[in-house]
Amino acid sequence: MLQSVRGTYDIIGEEFQKFHYVNDLFEHFMKLYGYEMIKTPVIEDTAVFKKDNDTSDVVTKEMFTFSINGKDSLTLRPEGTAGVIRAFIQHKLYARELPVKLAYIEEMFRYERPQKGRQRQFNQLGIEVLGDKSPLIDAEVIALGYSFLKTLGIEDMEVHINTLGDSTSRLRYLEALKEYFRPHIDELCADCKDRLEKNPLRILDCKIDHDKDVIKRAPSIYDHLEDEAKSYFKQVLSYLDALEIPYVIDEHMVRGLDYYTDTVFEVVSTDKDAGSQSTIFGGGRYDSLIEEMGGPKMSGIGFAIGEERLISAMESAGLFDDLSITPDVYVIDLTSQDSFALEVAEMLRHNGYATELNYYKRSLKSQFKSADRKKTRFIIIIGEDEVKERKVSLKDKKEETQEMVKIEDLIAKLDVLMEGDRDE
Ligand code: HAM
Repeated sequence: MLQSVRGTYDIIGEEFQKFHYVNDLFEHFMKLYGYEMIKTPVIEDTAVFKKDNDTSDVVTKEMFTFSINGKDSLTLRPEGTAGVIRAFIQHKLYARELPVKLAYIEEMFRYERPQKGRQRQFNQLGIEVLGDKSPLIDAEVIALGYSFLKTLGIEDMEVHINTLGDSTSRLRYLEALKEYFRPHIDELCADCKDRLEKNPLRILDCKIDHDKDVIKRAPSIYDHLEDEAKSYFKQVLSYLDALEIPYVIDEHMVRGLDYYTDTVFEVVSTDKDAGSQSTIFGGGRYDSLIEEMGGPKMSGIGFAIGEERLISAMESAGLFDDLSITPDVYVIDLTSQDSFALEVAEMLRHNGYATELNYYKRSLKSQFKSADRKKTRFIIIIGEDEVKERKVSLKDKKEETQEMVKIEDLIAKLDVLMEGDRDE
């Protein structure tokens, strides 16, 4: 049997409704905070994600990269930031009033080992604020993500925050880490041995080594920060305090992608079912990425929420009501398939009533059963006589009434019955 590709999955019916519900609220939040939506292509030139010296885990080993006719190297986007910046530069969006605030809801692709909360195709809700740098923006970006999750009803979460310093502080810190880890190389896992010269920051949040003393005793970024970077971080924290957003300073949080400078943050689910993939969203500031990708020297900041992880946190907190689709009306057709039932169904839909129609010649009993299964409030029964007289028999299961209604009076009748419902 044909199967979906490993690490990918189908989103069907009620599951789809959950995504829809979350996406709707996200778009609403984007209006509240003044973001424009953007949709970039799924495929990009590989160069968008991978510079020659790039060492981050995402771009070194987790991409779906392929070439067509042995020529172009193309990649399915593993994350949203680089594509948005490519578009920002290509369309000279930097000439607009700054900062430019963009948001996306898109599928991402990473070639990693599938497990709970980790797929090869997954969805992200992301934002990027491009072209300006201020601790106010950093705090607002974190506040946006935090209150979005709060509004969805998530309570069991923690904001983890750290700074990697500006580019100068960061470089100094990288050197200090290399010097510190070199004599301890034998104590590190195979991946970390590899990271030591390429990206020693990633050793600090290694899933395998993180509990080892050698990591715990590693030099702290705070001893290597320039004064400016220190006061920038303090300002961000003071704004979070003012907004009463609780946070934990996590010295060892460095984030998986290479481009971050200054503020980095993650929101972690503290729900015990979340397991090892508990990070609902992550993001941070990037001071050099726009310039490195060929744009002007400008800073940016953003985050991306893993939508599957968010939805699973919402599921375990019992936050989804019954999302199954319940039609308002079920049309039972007992004629020999006259077009009248179809006309009635179309009229109902055009007037805002979600309507199901029986498509097969089936007994009254079995059609009633279908209507019951769909939990519709109204049932319309059409027989040969009704067609002749252009009437329908309307049954209201809630009020337990049944009456004949002329087709031209049907919508008004339903409106009255529904109105009574709304008044309750
Ligand atoms: P990221 O930390 O790589 O950041 O991913 C953000 C979120 O996407 C993660 O916290 C997680 O919830 C979700 N995620 C990542 N990989 C998977 C996967 N394989 N399966 C399911 N969910 C996953 C970024 O992508 C950055 N572009 C965020 C950002 C925007 N930074 C600045 N601007």
